[in-house]
Amino acid sequence: MTGGKFITFEGGEGAGKSTQVRRLATAMAAAGQPVLTTREPGGAAGAEQIRSLLVSGAIDRWQPMSEALLNYAARAEHVAQTIEPALRRGDWVVSDRFADSTLAYQGYGHGLDPEKLKSLHHITLGDFQPDLTYVLDLPVEEGLRRAMARGDGEDRYERMGIDFHNRLRDGFLEIAGADPERCVVIDGTADMDTIQQSIWAALQHKFPGRFQ
Ligand code: TMP
Repeated sequence: MTGGKFITFEGGEGAGKSTQVRRLATAMAAAGQPVLTTREPGGAAGAEQIRSLLVSGAIDRWQPMSEALLNYAARAEHVAQTIEPALRRGDWVVSDRFADSTLAYQGYGHGLDPEKLKSLHHITLGDFQPDLTYVLDLPVEEGLRRAMARGDGEDRYERMGIDFHNRLRDGFLEIAGADPERCVVIDGTADMDTIQQSIWAALQHKFPGRFQ
């Protein structure tokens, strides 16, 4: 799969990913780069249907492995139907969450063996990975406060305990630490403009000469 580049945003609840996805895409388009924004779980018709099974309802409605499998079923659709075709056209793709979320939420959060999740990734997508991943990091209490204020009804994960959210914050930081070539940790407590500037600077650093 050559052509475009694949960029993802990761982080806990209320980290400000959606805002920054929009801002980055707008800035890239202004710099002349065709860009597609998308999200997980979702980003393709079947994947959006799976999303509704995951983000609402009782906290314990799924076994952790069922959640991982549903996320990978959605991801298989998302990659085949949306991401791959865009990258082949030469568009860049910016996604609000991707596979690191499964490792953080179902792995670090719910205790699934990370090696099993990596096997699942390999079975589903081979070695397909983002070219660049931003991890928006902020204290769990602050993120949950912002997420609850949204009141969008997609609160199944927000209702999970504070320990769960602290485990996945640590998980995202560990994932980023283990793959510094791909991942950049961004301080999510800064104001939106400062965060946007850090994200743009990291993009310029990762793709020298492309967005000067
Ligand atoms: P969002 O609120 O950022 O749109 O994400 C939807 C929820 O789904 C969020 O609480 C994180 C969760 N999630 C997982 O648990 N595993 C995954 O693989 C993905 C992509 C999301």
